[in-house]
Amino acid sequence: MGEPIIELEELTKKYGKFTAVDHINLTVHKGEIFGILGPNGAGKSTTILMMLGLTDPTSGSVKVCGINSTRNPLQVRHRVGYLPEDVGFYDDMTGLENLIYTARLNKINEKVARAKAAELLERVGLAVDPKKKTGKYSRGMRQRLGLADVLIKNPEVIILDEPTSGIDPAGVQEFMDLIRQLRQENGLTVLFSSHHLDQVQHICDRIGLFGNGKLLAEVKLNELQDKEHGLENIYNNYFGGGKSHE
Ligand SMILES: Nc1ncnc2c1ncn2[C@@H]1O[C@H](COP(=O)(O)OP(=O)(O)OP(=O)(O)O)[C@@H](O)[C@H]1O
Ligand SMILES: [Mg+2]
Repeated sequence: MGEPIIELEELTKKYGKFTAVDHINLTVHKGEIFGILGPNGAGKSTTILMMLGLTDPTSGSVKVCGINSTRNPLQVRHRVGYLPEDVGFYDDMTGLENLIYTARLNKINEKVARAKAAELLERVGLAVDPKKKTGKYSRGMRQRLGLADVLIKNPEVIILDEPTSGIDPAGVQEFMDLIRQLRQENGLTVLFSSHHLDQVQHICDRIGLFGNGKLLAEVKLNELQDKEHGLENIYNNYFGGGKSHE
């Protein structure tokens, strides 16, 4: 197992008396694909925001790449590619222009950025229509551009919040295949959240089931005898019938 990349210790977030994230302990290791799975309001996004230092915990601690996210948020965000739930682009620009803009913000040399952006667009299947403005992109295309956007600064870890919501099933499969290939090639560590059991079960090494702010269970997929039904049974034990929750 690789070194720890994301470390949560008794991580807790309260909004007044309401506990959104409740004493979570979790370690994600280098090269792992970890899925946070849970229904609406489970605390997935709040946990992710604390990893990035975009929200401060009420108590407990969070480290990414060995850096305390609460104390050194900028250092953490420098190392991490983060794709939020609703990614925004400059919609009167092309995909390439958007990527170059992100590269500039990250102080990447212009020439290097252009080459890397073109390569990434190719990689995520968006190079075919280079003049298309992102305003005309479908949801699936936006998410793939989002993935290219988080990769342009060569992060060690990528954190994706519901990256596949609103994409058609074929698009989801493509997106997941791409993530798996990237991990294979670059040794990336990946953490992403989802409502959908069927989306996470084929790609993750481990899954954390979130509900009511708690980490209810951690499942190692290679230890499940019957991957498909084993995980479905565990999910249903916690969240009732149905394969996924909108
Ligand atoms: N800024 C806030 N102020 C008050 N309550 C909040 C705030 N942000 C989140 N919450 C509450 O905390 C709980 C967890 O929210 P969170 O967004 O982390 O859930 P989630 O698992 O990402 O849900 P979804 O699947 O709908 O994105 C929810 O009940 C939400 O209403
Ligand atoms: Mg969320």
